[in-house]
Amino acid sequence: MSDHPSTGFLWGTATSAYQVEGAVDEGGRGRSIWDEFCERPGAVVDGQSGRVACDHFHRWEEDLDLMRGLGIQAYRFSIAWPRVLPEGTGHVNERGLDFYSRLVDGLLERGIEPMATLYHWDLPLALGEVGGWHSRETAHAFAEYARVAAERLGDRIRLWATLNEIPVIVHEGHCVGTHPPGERCEAQVINQVRHHLLLAHGLGTQALRAAARKRPSVGLVDCPHVPEPLTESEGDIAAARDAFERMNGVRFDPVFRGRYPAAWWEAQGASVPEVRDGDLATIQQPQDFLGLNVYSSWNVASAERGVCQLETHFPQTDLQWPIMPDCLYWATRFAHEVHGLPAIFITENGCAYPDQVNGRGEVDDFARIAYLRGHLRGVDRALAEGLPLRGYLLWSFLDNFEWAKGYAKRFGIVHVNFETLRRTPKASARWYAQHIATHSPPRAERA
Ligand code: FCB
Repeated sequence: MSDHPSTGFLWGTATSAYQVEGAVDEGGRGRSIWDEFCERPGAVVDGQSGRVACDHFHRWEEDLDLMRGLGIQAYRFSIAWPRVLPEGTGHVNERGLDFYSRLVDGLLERGIEPMATLYHWDLPLALGEVGGWHSRETAHAFAEYARVAAERLGDRIRLWATLNEIPVIVHEGHCVGTHPPGERCEAQVINQVRHHLLLAHGLGTQALRAAARKRPSVGLVDCPHVPEPLTESEGDIAAARDAFERMNGVRFDPVFRGRYPAAWWEAQGASVPEVRDGDLATIQQPQDFLGLNVYSSWNVASAERGVCQLETHFPQTDLQWPIMPDCLYWATRFAHEVHGLPAIFITENGCAYPDQVNGRGEVDDFARIAYLRGHLRGVDRALAEGLPLRGYLLWSFLDNFEWAKGYAKRFGIVHVNFETLRRTPKASARWYAQHIATHSPPRAERA
């Protein structure tokens, strides 16, 4: 594992390009698979799309000012691949890079640390049309894109995430078809798609390191299953940790151990992916950090019963996700105990509620404050126990386009009126600002 001088713990927020930028036809941007998917009848709630979204492409300065006003220390955004390489490979669109260059400068001027995600699901359509992630070539195209982004922005961006949530790309896109390309594939194809995504992570990591002028800190962003122990008995904790290792091994073993889990491989039978010589060594690049997107534990584990949903009566958010506030602690602890990581960021955590602006022009999202308060105790506990947690990036800064669920699922600490595009910081934004200002976790050791 490589090290990187860390500036300590970062409190931040997160978004992704297609969910907030809008301006899909501007600045030389090419089309992405999401543009096309949203045009399919019935694909997205109410036929909505990211065509305008939060119009962040035009309002980014206002958004960055708001962030500064709240004392936000880090901002995780994603770079839209089709803005940088409209055809996926080849022609580089300087105007696209200019946008991110200005954004990064704007962040740094305001004292906010940028964390750039290279792939948050908006594959250039041109690549989608020639096989997308079915094709090994897409992994190589990703490395080319990573190189171009790092050459231009790597003098100022330190924190780089390669891909966001391989499990969701695989499951929603290729198993159940609720995200583009909207397919239901057989097991072998699903395994091959995952392999190409892992390969893209490895090749992308190499390309970033080779091209960035400032030594980059690189990591994968994943959304692991985090079964939590039913009780804190040693047996239950061990059962939950074993389940964590088993349930996430198909991605974490290649990335951190350079192999697929033997039991998983065997269970696939004829459906194993084609793995070429050297692929696993490419995938197993030293990681500077692991990004964890964690919204719930979903399951509990016990020594007697294994993983199950023993308790079904958790309160839920607007997406019917169970509220299990200890999930951040267990995710951090298990990831570290199983894989011995140099640094971990919570790259997403938050909740959706149907927030409305009231007659006084305010948004009283007290349920979100309760959610955040509970979850951030897990951050405190992880830090108190010396786990290498380096930052927390709340999802999301703005209400935004929640993929196939459209705009009704509001995750922001800043409300967006999608007719006027007016921003209204919610009560939770003020709460978070206060939390950042007053809450001083032990300074993380230098990573
Ligand atoms: C995650 C995605 C993010 C957002 C949240 C709610 O799976 O990475 O874009 O949609 O869920």
